[in-house]
Amino acid sequence: MNPLNHVAIIMDGNGRWGMRNKNSRKAGHKAGLKTVEKIIKHSIKNKIKFLTLYAFSTENWKRPDSEIKYLFNLLEVFLREKIQKLHSNGIKIKIVGNKNLNKKLRTLLTYAEKKTSKNEKIQINLALNYGSKKEILDTVKKLIKNKKKITEENFTNNLYTKNIPNPDILIRTGNTKRLSNFLMWQLAYSELFFEKKLWPDFNEIDYDKIIKKYSQIKRNFGKI
Ligand code: IPE
Ligand code: IPE
Ligand code: MG
Repeated sequence: MNPLNHVAIIMDGNGRWGMRNKNSRKAGHKAGLKTVEKIIKHSIKNKIKFLTLYAFSTENWKRPDSEIKYLFNLLEVFLREKIQKLHSNGIKIKIVGNKNLNKKLRTLLTYAEKKTSKNEKIQINLALNYGSKKEILDTVKKLIKNKKKITEENFTNNLYTKNIPNPDILIRTGNTKRLSNFLMWQLAYSELFFEKKLWPDFNEIDYDKIIKKYSQIKRNFGKI
């Protein structure tokens, strides 16, 4: 049995779900948030210690303004309403990505991180305004600026994800097989699962099936 410590998820398919079911992409994002809550709960139940959720990529800025506004508003309202409950459930929140967002949201994100920083049940890494290429370049620049040697260890310890182990599993919903600029360094040895279902339709049973498959895989890490 492989230990399962960290699950990373590309939550894709909200827009298509919304168009199909309610003729509105925004409705899909709203429905996707319900799945987020379900999957957090189920991760805790499965004793997973790290859950990384891709919420907004550096490329998602290319979407229409109204969709971007809606997404950030959804996040803001969610955090405001749920932060107390997340905290009392022992959830630690960490933002992975560039926090250079509007001041109100940045303050809220920093507050959520600080408030939950001592929690130990599960760590939720919210990949927000995240891009793997930007992360890699930022890390190289930081190492050079601090006159550090470019070694694998220094590199790993200076990524946005420092102190977070690499994901054991990557799940991408939405019937597309690509990484879309997500954790390219960290996923080097992760087991990849591509799920046909759109994110709002993804449920605990689908999640359990993936976990079961993962537990039976022989992970080699180059060895035999
Ligand atoms: C993923 O769903 C959520 C975000 C990118 C915020 P999409 O919005 O990409 O949904 P599709 O892929 O268009 O269906
Ligand atoms: C990846 O989904 C980003 C998030 C889930 C936040 P996208 O829908 O943005 O990816 P592409 O554009 O289809 O590759
Ligand atoms: Mg998409």
